[in-house]
Amino acid sequence: MNKSIELRCPKCLGVAASKIEFRCSACACVLEARVSIEHLSAADLAAMRSSRDLSIWRWFDFLPVENRASIVSLGEGNTPLLPAARLGARIGIANLFLKNDTVLPTGSLKDRSNSVGISVGKELGFATASVISTGNAAASVAAYAAAAGMQGIVMVPKGTAAAKILQAHAYGASVIVVDGRFDYEVAELYQKAVAEFGWYDCLSSNPYRVGKKSYAYELVDQMDGVLPDWVIHPTAGGTGIVCMWQGFKEFQTLGWIDRLPKLVAAQSEAAAPFVAAMAHESAEIAAVEARETVAESIQVGNPSALGNRALAALRESRGTAVGLSDGEILEAQALTAKLAGIFAEPAAATSVAAAKKMRANGTIGRDEVVVCHLTGHGLKQPEAIQYVDQDFDPIAPTLPALREQLKRWVSDTRP
Ligand SMILES: Cc1ncc(COP(=O)(O)O)c(C=O)c1O
Ligand SMILES: [Zn+2]
Repeated sequence: MNKSIELRCPKCLGVAASKIEFRCSACACVLEARVSIEHLSAADLAAMRSSRDLSIWRWFDFLPVENRASIVSLGEGNTPLLPAARLGARIGIANLFLKNDTVLPTGSLKDRSNSVGISVGKELGFATASVISTGNAAASVAAYAAAAGMQGIVMVPKGTAAAKILQAHAYGASVIVVDGRFDYEVAELYQKAVAEFGWYDCLSSNPYRVGKKSYAYELVDQMDGVLPDWVIHPTAGGTGIVCMWQGFKEFQTLGWIDRLPKLVAAQSEAAAPFVAAMAHESAEIAAVEARETVAESIQVGNPSALGNRALAALRESRGTAVGLSDGEILEAQALTAKLAGIFAEPAAATSVAAAKKMRANGTIGRDEVVVCHLTGHGLKQPEAIQYVDQDFDPIAPTLPALREQLKRWVSDTRP
């Protein structure tokens, strides 16, 4: 049976007349890409699970791409789901698992979204893919545009650290530095440019960027159908929460799973609109002023495109949102590296910080099964690692000097 794909408004249920309209013409909501899945059977699931393709494209039937020939893949997906016994013992969770997305092609979870988004862009015949970002999204769009043979364009505000944009530059994207503030002048110019030049817009308002549904499919596959009690996702725009929930619901509708996990949005308390909305039991997300935080990649105060949908998913799953201080985030980053061997960027370590906090306040029970998403590599933001210059002072090439130095390390740094 042929796959059918439509863009539908989640509010008025209107169906878009064109494939390149991203918002509902009646209510301006971000549209949802609906893929027909009703015909899929348990035999199809078995075939997907035994496919030799281990990337997210194993789940092609759920993704809004018409033809396999359009797929732009760098091998994203099927990232390790690792039991973390030592880290679990430290934070009091007997069944802790880490989903290690730091190993994705450009080092962050954005590759799940952009592999699908750029595949559709290619299928629709676009020549240029664009995004406004200062970090992980820029590098990811640039890499997938390069792989697709499209021109990547990344717009950033003046003052953005070179390290943040060099990865995108390395993939051949045009990095355009604009004299203005990210959420205001730069965003405004970006929207005008997309309309003027007809670029393929890869922001979270692009309904085709649903690759994070693969988190749900992979978890079911990797846990052999035994779903975790909690899945904790570092959250900014809400794409991960929305897509994951959609993925789990699809499997439930097909009768492939019989229960659903509770979802948790882990946020820096300096940029925590989901935490505020859950605490105030608000029906809608309200924008907050995002303050500086070490969790730079999730410093988003106004998740306008998908915020309300993500909030609804958190509630429907009976989950929650947790705000973390920079101290808690850096501690979780260090524990994850030293007790589990995974070097995650601070934003990514918010999931572990949230697990620790939720266990300490009794929200998570000792024997519950918890999955923490580690969504970006520590090398994305090496300056977050704390050390004193003295740590790396050269020593004389003698055993006594080495003995002295070893004493320091042993007393200093063992977790
Ligand atoms: C490292 C990292 N983790 C998590 C996220 C969360 O994004 P979302 O809430 O859209 O899934 C982002 C992106 O903004 C990110 O860069
Ligand atoms: Zn509508």
